Amino acid sequence: MKVLGIESSCDETAASVVEDGKTILSNVVATQIPFHTKYQGVVPELASRKHIEWIQSVVEEALETAQVSLDEIDAIAATNRPGLMGSLLVGLTYGKTLAWTTGKPFIAINHMLGHCYAAHLLEDIQYPYLGLLVSGGHSIICVVKNFDDIEVLGTTIDDAAGEAFDKVAKYYGFGYPGGVVIDRLSKNGNVKAANFPVPHFHDPKHRYDVSYSGLKTAVINQIDQFWNPEYEKTPENIAASFQEAAVKTLVSRLLLAVEDTGLKTIVAGGGVAANSRLREMLAEHPDLHCIFPPLKLCGDNGAMIAGVAYQFLKRGETSPWSVGASARIEGFRRKR
Ligand code: KG4
Ligand code: ZN
Repeated sequence: MKVLGIESSCDETAASVVEDGKTILSNVVATQIPFHTKYQGVVPELASRKHIEWIQSVVEEALETAQVSLDEIDAIAATNRPGLMGSLLVGLTYGKTLAWTTGKPFIAINHMLGHCYAAHLLEDIQYPYLGLLVSGGHSIICVVKNFDDIEVLGTTIDDAAGEAFDKVAKYYGFGYPGGVVIDRLSKNGNVKAANFPVPHFHDPKHRYDVSYSGLKTAVINQIDQFWNPEYEKTPENIAASFQEAAVKTLVSRLLLAVEDTGLKTIVAGGGVAANSRLREMLAEHPDLHCIFPPLKLCGDNGAMIAGVAYQFLKRGETSPWSVGASARIEGFRRKR
């Protein structure tokens, strides 16, 4: 079964053809980064306009690269939540229209299920496991029981992990997107240059939650307080010390979840899953089986959307034509 997956929730216009939820026949990602760079962040209005301009050719390229005609596609899927509303509506409306006019089933997909599924495109992974879904908009530590059955243990109480990378990079003018630049700069910096705080909550209801606003304030407004005077305040040193604290924040909560659940397989997804220090820090735990998608599948892409859609189709589930877009996801709150 060949599924065309469309993704347009933020600043990547993406489409992919995936066979049987596993074999990636094509994966086209048209990034808008150059258009948002001068603003050091995604401009929603600009993002929607670019999606409208590009979506047709991105889908055509995905079909051409996969060497399949539209007739050979069995179903069409698109991200409908969460994300920037104007951006989501482009891919969703395009996908629905294409499905309706060609008489194919349509499936609307939760973007975060997509990030979680990305690693499954390359490896057979048994459920349950611990999921670490970290992107520009979310930081979720969860128990993944099935491709669509996720129990959220912890989330961020303020900024998402990727957002913190982006804000620090923007403040210091390191470049955009922040996560990529900070990861690169850090390689030539010293993590000991500053001892930025890693937050810990005493309230048990926040046991697995993360927070980035304190770290962000420390790096941006109170850097002298945490700086080790033996080191020069170079971009590399700032980046490395910030990244160390940002990654430790995630890993410390993840290790608590491992301890409490006994689950030793961790599957990461989302843009921040590309972070080299995160990968390194988790690799220091040989008792854990940590699975990271390849870099190309960490960020937003259509393959992860087509993959999840196949799983729904296998169960005979499709979406009604009335399905809408939603900027937020209600299902990904903690159960209390
Ligand atoms: O999943 P994604 O492409 O889009 C969203 O769903 O948000 O994630 C984008 C986020 C951005 O905040 C970006 O700075 C961050 O992922 N990111 C990284 C790295 N590459 C991208 N953060 C840390 N280290 C990286 N290597
Ligand atoms: Zn994403």
